[in-house]
Amino acid sequence: MSEAFIISAVRTPIGVGKPGGALQPFAPVELAALVIQEAVRRAEIDPGRIDDVIWGVVTPVGDQGANLGRLAVLKAGFPFKVPAVTLNRMCGSGQQAVHFAAQAILAGDMDLVIAGGTECMSHQPLGADYPATWPDLPYNLVHQGISAEMMAEKWQQDRETLDEYAYQSHLRAMHAIQNGYFDSQILPVTRPDGRTVTVDEGVRMPPDRQKMAMLKPAFKPEGVTTAGNASQISDAAAAILLASPTAIGKHNLVPRARIVARTVVGSNPVLMLDGPIPATQQVLKKAGLSLDEIDVIEINEAFASVVLAWEHEFQPDLSRVNPNGGAIAHGHPVGATGTILMVKLLNELERIGGRYGLQTMCIGHGMATATILERI
Ligand SMILES: CC(C)(COP(=O)(O)OP(=O)(O)OC[C@H]1O[C@@H](n2cnc3c(N)ncnc32)[C@H](O)[C@@H]1OP(=O)(O)O)[C@@H](O)C(=O)NCCC(=O)NCCS
Repeated sequence: MSEAFIISAVRTPIGVGKPGGALQPFAPVELAALVIQEAVRRAEIDPGRIDDVIWGVVTPVGDQGANLGRLAVLKAGFPFKVPAVTLNRMCGSGQQAVHFAAQAILAGDMDLVIAGGTECMSHQPLGADYPATWPDLPYNLVHQGISAEMMAEKWQQDRETLDEYAYQSHLRAMHAIQNGYFDSQILPVTRPDGRTVTVDEGVRMPPDRQKMAMLKPAFKPEGVTTAGNASQISDAAAAILLASPTAIGKHNLVPRARIVARTVVGSNPVLMLDGPIPATQQVLKKAGLSLDEIDVIEINEAFASVVLAWEHEFQPDLSRVNPNGGAIAHGHPVGATGTILMVKLLNELERIGGRYGLQTMCIGHGMATATILERI
């Protein structure tokens, strides 16, 4: 049985996904090409050695359409013999790309694979690829913001608790930025106007707890989910280079982590956002580990209610959960987030000298992904 290792991992800063946002001047293909090039440069590997590029995009229309992964490989100047595929596991896309890459390596089909994702939500808003008429399904699908409200109701979370969680996310992200924790994982990008973007733009430094408390519910009048305790609309890209033991030996690569276990689950598509609970149970079982053995956990902050429901079920040591803030603070560029969280997870394991890391994400239409890494 082969194993799959992470060799390099890099992300752009995360821009606010609105007109005037820091990364809005970039086309999605440009951001993707930048991180693909950088993942290879950091590994000091010849681009022509890459067997495949697997790319997550959640809204694959307009300038994010036409197999963005393949266009990014060409834009990056790689030899045309390097192929690419674009996938859509909705918010889990960037994490699913890593899973597929690892699985290709584990199967013995490939030795060097780049996995990643891009989303420029300032270019293609969520839902731009939705059909005009939804198929007749046996479920009454609702907007994810309504599902976030259902989560809060089911786990009896009040506005104060959700806002406090969100506030802490900003404080943690601010602390990480001020102490340079993200510096080596971020590829600074220089805009056409000469300005170089180096940090995640959405983080409020410092956050304003009073203003957060004043915000109106975003999805239903008497609701508890607001712009402050939901993830932000964002632009970014991230890439991870994975390798087999054969490639590591052949090209003298230095592995940073091993992919220990992967899983994806389906959950109720209306409640939609509780999938990280069964996904976490399943991935821990596959790895033969308990949550106590995990040093760092990244659970995507799609909404504060998602993380707090998960925490209620597992009662983890909270200092290990999203220790440097999450998507509420730095944003959620949907197709890229799964890869971004893994870049963060790996770097945090290295920073604290931890061994195991767990990543899990809720996904639209009721799914969830989970991965366990072991730092080398
Ligand atoms: C919640 C949501 C609808 C809010 O969108 P929006 O109204 O465009 O958000 P904005 O960033 O403009 O914020 C609205 C207001 O809240 C304020 N605000 C946002 N976060 C804040 C914070 N942490 N502290 C204080 N104020 C905050 C903004 O400054 C703005 O105030 P203003 O009107 O005075 O300028 C949007 O972020 C969203 O859809 N998030 C979820 C995305 C999603 O579903 N992703 C997939 C997950 S499954």
